[in-house]
Amino acid sequence: MSRLVIEKVDAAFGLIITNWKPEFIGETKIFSQIKEALSEDPLIIFRGQRQLTDSELIEFASNFGDLFNGGELFGVNSTTPEILELSTELDEGGSEKLVSSATPLPWHTDYCYLPRPSRESFLNAVVIPSTECGTTWFANTYLAYESLSKSLKQRVDGLSGLHKLEGSNRHQAAVETKTYEDRRTQKNSNFNYPGSRDPVEHPAAYKHPLHNRTALYINSLTCGFADMNNSESEALLSELFLEAAAPERTYKHVWQENDLVLFDTIGTIHRREAQPFNEHRVMRQLSTLI
Ligand SMILES: [Fe+2]
Repeated sequence: MSRLVIEKVDAAFGLIITNWKPEFIGETKIFSQIKEALSEDPLIIFRGQRQLTDSELIEFASNFGDLFNGGELFGVNSTTPEILELSTELDEGGSEKLVSSATPLPWHTDYCYLPRPSRESFLNAVVIPSTECGTTWFANTYLAYESLSKSLKQRVDGLSGLHKLEGSNRHQAAVETKTYEDRRTQKNSNFNYPGSRDPVEHPAAYKHPLHNRTALYINSLTCGFADMNNSESEALLSELFLEAAAPERTYKHVWQENDLVLFDTIGTIHRREAQPFNEHRVMRQLSTLI
């Protein structure tokens, strides 16, 4: 194996690799090629390979940086704390056994509510329904920042966004808000998020630490801006959200089993469409930290 074949997907951004194999995880030249590709495009799809084992997935992801113990935080997997399993499996009472996986999720950035937020994220499809659902959308927030008007850019530069797990959640389509309410009763009521719910600050114009490209760092978990009153924050957030989630800068990922999607968590936001409860879906998620 000398070079990976890396192609662009038919969207504003996104790359796809179909000749990668888990056996390449330890090959430094191939890893360098992936890292270089990720510095040029914030989303890479690996498709067509066999399913990775848990330990292979952890090894692959940890090559990029320190992994966050997302599985441990959300209490879903004690043997592999780095893997957050998202499953629609229900218990006898009809509630989801783990953290919610069937409700729609609005545009968000993984772990932006932590002091050290995520730098790269990994989503892997383990079980996928036969019908198209649970689709994940991505938006490129480097392009969003670069598209801001001069005056908006000046307002954003130097501004600190406030992020918390229970952010605004306003940026959800009406149909998805309804679906979310319909399914709220089936969420796992035994789950209590054990982390802090206090807001943390991150730059609204976020410079990626490895390649210095600047992203517009706001999402539905952004609840305001430091040193700005609520009404001003709300107005600015709404204006910026139109840029962050502009349809012309999105990519829609329809999952196939074994797909592994690697994305730059600073330069993208993503959202999940609703997933029927009667269709089984299992995903594995991991993140590195800044
Ligand atoms: Fe996510």
